[in-house]
Amino acid sequence: MPTVLVEHLSRTYRSGSTELIALDDLSLSLDAGEIFGFIGPNGAGKTTTIKILSTLLQPTSGRAVVCGHDVSLEPSMVRRLIGYMPDFFGVYDDIKVWEYLDFFAAAYKIPKHTRQSVISGVLDLTDLTIKKEAYVESLSRGMKQRLCLAKTLIHDPPVLLLDEPASGLDPRARIEIRELLKELKSMGKTILVSSHILPEMEDFCTRIGIIERGKLLVQGKVDEIIATKQGGTKFVLRVVDDIEKAAAILASIPFVTVEDPGSHDQTREPNTIAIIYSGEMGSEHKVLTCLISAGVKVLSFYAPPSDLEDIFMAVTTGAVN
Ligand SMILES: Nc1ncnc2c1ncn2[C@@H]1O[C@H](COP(=O)(O)OP(=O)(O)O)[C@@H](O)[C@H]1O
Ligand SMILES: [Mg+2]
Repeated sequence: MPTVLVEHLSRTYRSGSTELIALDDLSLSLDAGEIFGFIGPNGAGKTTTIKILSTLLQPTSGRAVVCGHDVSLEPSMVRRLIGYMPDFFGVYDDIKVWEYLDFFAAAYKIPKHTRQSVISGVLDLTDLTIKKEAYVESLSRGMKQRLCLAKTLIHDPPVLLLDEPASGLDPRARIEIRELLKELKSMGKTILVSSHILPEMEDFCTRIGIIERGKLLVQGKVDEIIATKQGGTKFVLRVVDDIEKAAAILASIPFVTVEDPGSHDQTREPNTIAIIYSGEMGSEHKVLTCLISAGVKVLSFYAPPSDLEDIFMAVTTGAVN
């Protein structure tokens, strides 16, 4: 049984006489311990999906299930199982960091005698122990975001629903959030995390889904999606000179497609060629053998790290609601 299951979920918003389809027959599932990166441009429907999973919004049709409990039928059960981090941190005046956490701990009915240690635990995890006595409004944006995550963890939920936890943060704060997510993953949490920033998600998500205009366009492991979308594995090679000759030889090798040099990254170094290899795995070296025996002076031949941005561009149309 998947830990999080979304089946044929649709949601429309009505304003006046116009109807907007925010979610259109969306299905996805997360197994226990997975980190699922829910990626899409603004307005794609990420928040709508997460709010439905968090029991805060009713679907128009379809269903969402958390640990076997339907979010519409058993909302209070689901609330115990999830930690929901909204995309927007509310305003809290005149309240200290520990008071803020104590408030939520009480709301989650954590007994008074254990609250202190629970609060210490989440402060430690989110690296906010030194800010315990600080006022919430005095925290930096990154710290507020971590405090919000601390709140999300206070009842030790097995499932985390995090709506753009790193949005609006500077690079350092983003890295801190990312490290924190990795730690939560190692604790065995099942995590759905949304983002409109792609490279951020690549190295720690077990799977990703790309959503646009309420539709899930693709889901799966990053490498697999990339391989499917680009029709093989990408290699970049660099030659000493005579790049035309190298390109001509490459073009004649079976299962090799030479990428149009101008098409993708403008940052590519001189005398380099990118190819897509669609042949058998483990036989990639034969391409190199062909080149060398034809007298091409090869300087380097490597598979660059998969580029999520490339598939994002290939999969999405750029259209918004
Ligand atoms: N309360 C609402 N009323 C009307 N339209 C809404 C409401 N909330 C979201 N929408 C619309 O639904 C679409 C999806 O929004 P949202 O789920 O917030 O996307 P994302 O989180 O991916 O940016 C957008 O077009 C948005 O304008
Ligand atoms: Mg959103």
